[in-house]
Amino acid sequence: MARAQSHCHSYFSRVSEGSVATFSRKSICIMRGPGRSSVSLGLGLLSIGRPWGYKQGMPPREERAYALLDHAISKGITFVDTAPGYGSSEKILGAFLEKRPTNSPPIYVSTKIAEHWDWTSQTPFVDHSYHALCRSIDQSMKTLGKVDLLQVHRPKASTLRSRDLVRALSYAQTQGIPTFGVSVSDIESAKIACRSGAFGYLQFTYNKLNTSLTHAFQLATKHSLNVIVNRPLAMGEIVETTTGEKAEALKNAFSFILDNCFSGVILTGTRSEHHLTENVSAFRAVNRVPRL
Ligand SMILES: NC(=O)c1ccc[n+]([C@@H]2O[C@H](COP(=O)([O-])OP(=O)(O)OC[C@H]3O[C@@H](n4cnc5c(N)ncnc54)[C@H](OP(=O)(O)O)[C@@H]3O)[C@@H](O)[C@H]2O)c1
Repeated sequence: MARAQSHCHSYFSRVSEGSVATFSRKSICIMRGPGRSSVSLGLGLLSIGRPWGYKQGMPPREERAYALLDHAISKGITFVDTAPGYGSSEKILGAFLEKRPTNSPPIYVSTKIAEHWDWTSQTPFVDHSYHALCRSIDQSMKTLGKVDLLQVHRPKASTLRSRDLVRALSYAQTQGIPTFGVSVSDIESAKIACRSGAFGYLQFTYNKLNTSLTHAFQLATKHSLNVIVNRPLAMGEIVETTTGEKAEALKNAFSFILDNCFSGVILTGTRSEHHLTENVSAFRAVNRVPRL
């Protein structure tokens, strides 16, 4: 896959009053011609770390999570998405990566900042202060061994304009993190992220039951950002409520997303090897440019 051009932009320099930030925007996915998409399937690791889903499933035992990761790799998945706010997810992924033989094919590790995990209450919380963000970066680097992509986790527009965030991203760059993204939940934040020139990835929710951020595909494409789609099955609701064949429901769910023009990744979120096999098959059946 070609790389989007490394890129610096004055936006963050303006936010930071010229003092700190110039960011490179690297990307792993190709920027393609009109009407063509290059989309791969990645594995979202939220549900291996904390209760999640339409049915609120509990996370699997650690050995089952390792088996799921092995299975994903055997199916050709090379992109994983975690976050400090996903409970034990980073720890499990870090332990798994550490145990892999050194000559194993690389896994692209994507995590986030700005949502943290309270181990006592077992709940996520938000802290956008510079020191909290830097602590989170240090902890993720230590836990995971490397971070290929660091995403700002569900910021408000004001967070993206904050000097503390810019300084923290600048710090992340000094720690060797090469690429940045934003996981947005509103279109205003998507616009700021896309126009900033600082980010290579835009993550957002999109599925048959939630199309509120459809415009984000266009924004990302216009500004040459890769897209990461989360909740492709609406946290499982799409399969739980289907009255027809499950395999068809899965294909329709992926096809619905692939009808948009974008390059990037769709994150399937499952704790089950069997479900992962089903999802990989469905995705492959409908992906116009198969490139798992
Ligand atoms: N940045 C953000 O704000 C944000 C928000 C949400 C998600 N995310 C990311 O996106 C990833 C994917 O989101 P998601 O976990 O909501 O994905 P999803 O695929 O929409 O939903 C996952 C749920 O669907 C069920 N499921 C998946 N495949 C199935 C199948 N073949 N048959 C039956 N049930 C199936 C899973 O249950 P089983 O485990 O039993 O298979 C799980 O409960 C997350 O892991 C996370 O990395 C990011």
